[in-house]
Amino acid sequence: MYDLIDSFLESAKHYDKDIFPFIANKKDFCEGEDSVYYSGPYWDEQEAKELIYSVLKGKWLSSGEQVANFEKQFSSKFNFKYSLMVNSGSSANLVMLHALKKFFEWNDDDEIIVCVCGFPTTVAPIIQSGLKPVFVDISWNDLNWNINTLESLITPRTRALFSSPVLGNTYDLDYVVDLCEKHKLKLISDNCDSLGSKWKDKYLTEYSIASSCSFYPAHHICTIEGGMVSSNIKEIVDISRSFAWWGRDCYCVGQQNLLYKGVCGKRFDHWLPLYDGPVDHKYVFSNMGYNLKPLDLQGSVGSIQLKKFSEIHFKRRTNKLHIQEILSSYEGVEVIKELPNAETSWFGVPVICKSKKLKTAFVEYLESNKIQTRNYFAGNILLQPGYLHLGDYSKYPEANQVLDRVFFLGCSPTINSVMINYIKKIVDRFFLDLHY
Ligand SMILES: Cc1ncc(COP(=O)(O)O)c(C=O)c1O
Repeated sequence: MYDLIDSFLESAKHYDKDIFPFIANKKDFCEGEDSVYYSGPYWDEQEAKELIYSVLKGKWLSSGEQVANFEKQFSSKFNFKYSLMVNSGSSANLVMLHALKKFFEWNDDDEIIVCVCGFPTTVAPIIQSGLKPVFVDISWNDLNWNINTLESLITPRTRALFSSPVLGNTYDLDYVVDLCEKHKLKLISDNCDSLGSKWKDKYLTEYSIASSCSFYPAHHICTIEGGMVSSNIKEIVDISRSFAWWGRDCYCVGQQNLLYKGVCGKRFDHWLPLYDGPVDHKYVFSNMGYNLKPLDLQGSVGSIQLKKFSEIHFKRRTNKLHIQEILSSYEGVEVIKELPNAETSWFGVPVICKSKKLKTAFVEYLESNKIQTRNYFAGNILLQPGYLHLGDYSKYPEANQVLDRVFFLGCSPTINSVMINYIKKIVDRFFLDLHY
């Protein structure tokens, strides 16, 4: 079948030379005509082939054996015992927090400490889980939460610290792990931007009770859309799975669904306390859930992407260093660097400008020369219309400067050396011709 797909793809390329625009470095970069995208799927024909194969040969098509395989491979690659794939990183955060709340028996309005700057669907799932976000301002050292103010925010209702190292770069994790131990709090990771990032040779997620990940095209590995919840505690992943699978109690995955008695061995049993009779476990609902399942073809692409992870990690780090080097020649801009104990798998290159005027002019110049830039996500989330009601933005003076002074450039493996040279040329031109 793969041979047939190969020959189909060959014919398709003759028919239309622009198929697979996502294929890395497929076409020579043409200055002024092509954009330097800040990120994109680092795919080649293998992923395309796998997608077609999965659709042609898949028996169930929705979450099945390929998703189950990817979950296992992902766990083993990143040192987790258990993982659950869902349809996005946002969904991963949602079901992970629902599951943690249920597993640890947290009450409504128990408090979760989280950075005031970051991605909106780190914060929204806290509220959607009936918990209360308590915000922390940022530190200019690494643009993450200011760890020195965390302790002052801990109250008798605090249950967890929800870490989200935006752009992949960590803060002093030892300090936060000690703080959690001291106050008996859980450390949770939104690891959507930090897949592969390490602290003292261990993945950041190895310090957390549970973590999430995103496979949206901007992220380290891409399954079109997709996300993962991982933990070493089976129940946390099982409860997450239940929330993602309509709330059902049955936890069979992939081919296990074909076992007529199920993995539990008692598929048809007296599951419902108020009903006297056997019920199929697949129709027992222990949670009020959602449907956040991924497709099997996303699982199969994930497995291919995982094999490229070392290359992706290396290229992201190399591109980040090149861009850091380019900007280091100029005053008024600073690129955040990793701490000595960290090995960051950069999501992007965080740039701090000395003034709003400089940031505005620099971003405008880069964009007008087709070099994509991105906001430091939401900036202070309390400035965003959907989040105004959660608190007073003015209490976070550092976060309030983020939209003025911070942005990021891409360092994705889809950015090649020709593009890096082009970025250098445009940055040099901006500063030498004083375009601000
Ligand atoms: C830190 C963080 N959390 C969550 C998400 C949401 O992931 P997704 O787009 O897969 O829903 C993102 C998306 O970029 C993110 O950067």
